[in-house]
Amino acid sequence: MNTKSSLPIYKPAEQYQPNSKLSAQPSDMSLRASSIHNDNARNIFIETYGCQMNVSDSELMTGILTQAGHRTVSDIDDADVILLNTCAIRENAETKVINRLKHLNHRKRREGNLIIGVCGCMAQHLRDKLLDAAPYVDIVMGPDAYRNLPMALNAVVSGDPFLGLQLNKAEDYADISPIRKEGVRAWLTIQRGCDKMCTFCIVPFVRGRERSIPQKILKSDVERLVDEGFKEIVLLGQTVNSYNDGNHDFGELLWSIADVEGIERVRFTSPHPADATDSMIDAMENCPKVCKQLHLPLQSGSTQVLERMRRTYTAEEYRELVYKLRERIPEIALSTDVIVGFCGETDEDFTETYMLMEEIRFDSAFMFKYSDREGTLANKMLDDDVPEKEKGRRLSEIISLQERISTDINQSKIGTAVPVLVEGNSKRDSEQYHGKSDTFKTTVFPKDKANIGDIVNVEIHSASAHTLIGQIAE
Ligand code: SAH
Ligand code: F3S
Repeated sequence: MNTKSSLPIYKPAEQYQPNSKLSAQPSDMSLRASSIHNDNARNIFIETYGCQMNVSDSELMTGILTQAGHRTVSDIDDADVILLNTCAIRENAETKVINRLKHLNHRKRREGNLIIGVCGCMAQHLRDKLLDAAPYVDIVMGPDAYRNLPMALNAVVSGDPFLGLQLNKAEDYADISPIRKEGVRAWLTIQRGCDKMCTFCIVPFVRGRERSIPQKILKSDVERLVDEGFKEIVLLGQTVNSYNDGNHDFGELLWSIADVEGIERVRFTSPHPADATDSMIDAMENCPKVCKQLHLPLQSGSTQVLERMRRTYTAEEYRELVYKLRERIPEIALSTDVIVGFCGETDEDFTETYMLMEEIRFDSAFMFKYSDREGTLANKMLDDDVPEKEKGRRLSEIISLQERISTDINQSKIGTAVPVLVEGNSKRDSEQYHGKSDTFKTTVFPKDKANIGDIVNVEIHSASAHTLIGQIAE
């Protein structure tokens, strides 16, 4: 139905005309205050898939749309625009969205005027091919084009699908205030894109080159987040610790964010092992507000596989980094990401991964079967030669190993007290609260006299692989 040549492709830098009224300076960026009246205001529902960076981007999209006078709604049935903010990291993430789109198309056929947009990494990955798979989609928009969302909504009224697919190294959205749900923990994007080019990974292709947001802007963002009631900040970036705004490195940024009055805790995700500098470790060791918890993606315990993945460290270097971190910060909690069944991974390679996980004993891990992604270096240069069944077998092996280790580590906390930031009612029992410990473990306990936003000491009396259970210490 739609051909590539007939589609308008908008370029953010060319098309976006900052309106002096709207593009407020960081110090006075209140989007709610500066949103304009819009006669074509729409009710927009944003459905988010994938990682925390996408959740953060959905908050950014909400900011942009609200600024333009639109409303975001929390009930999809109230929406006349549905935007899916998507993930491209593994094939099943994309399959899920295609199935979701088919379902939404039934509603579109029924209602006629429903607008459907696909935003984010999968939009950037599949580009106009997405319109072949789902020709009823009205907007296809990559992560650097969100400023054009209001324009896209106007454009589709005229019947043309809208493609916003330019990657733009200059786009950091530093002047836009995301709109977040109320809570105690705010996620703050400090860096966009990735320059690392791991051979298995689609991120550099769909999110473009790395760029860091100036520390001064981030600091004023955090001051505003304190005013909004947030107590904990999680700094976000694809290789968050390679942050450098030209004047400050990541360690300096940690100190400066922790220095904001009213902030109780600072964390970050995900660092790259090769960028774990002394400046970062020093801030983790010596700055009391920086949580002693680190998500440090390993990917494989075999140096040969790490080389093919272009991770830029060996298994030995990773191990040494872990020893150094534990020496400097003995109570540190470590988690990781592991991929099994990468191109050419032998039984011996896999055993090395298994044994390294057994040796390091991570508090928790995200574990994945390798998924070949079109456009990546591995897809072009290497053979996806580990049979699916074997990938599955290796995955179950490390999952059971990790469950045992996580259970052991969590049960070793029984009888101790851990500081927990109270987040809200426990899902299962409204008489109980849940929150995260300083080591980012979900903790559940009776409410007692605590309030949401307090940090309380919880004495642990039982634990599973994923949860600590206890009561507030006297
Ligand atoms: N540096 C980023 C990585 C994003 S991807 C961050 O941690 O924020 C998250 C994880 O997905 C990666 O660490 C990796 O373990 C996994 N992953 C990435 N590409 C993959 C692929 N093609 N197949 C399977 N897992 C993959
Ligand atoms: Fe992907 Fe490697 Fe960057 S995993 S996000 S290319 S550090």
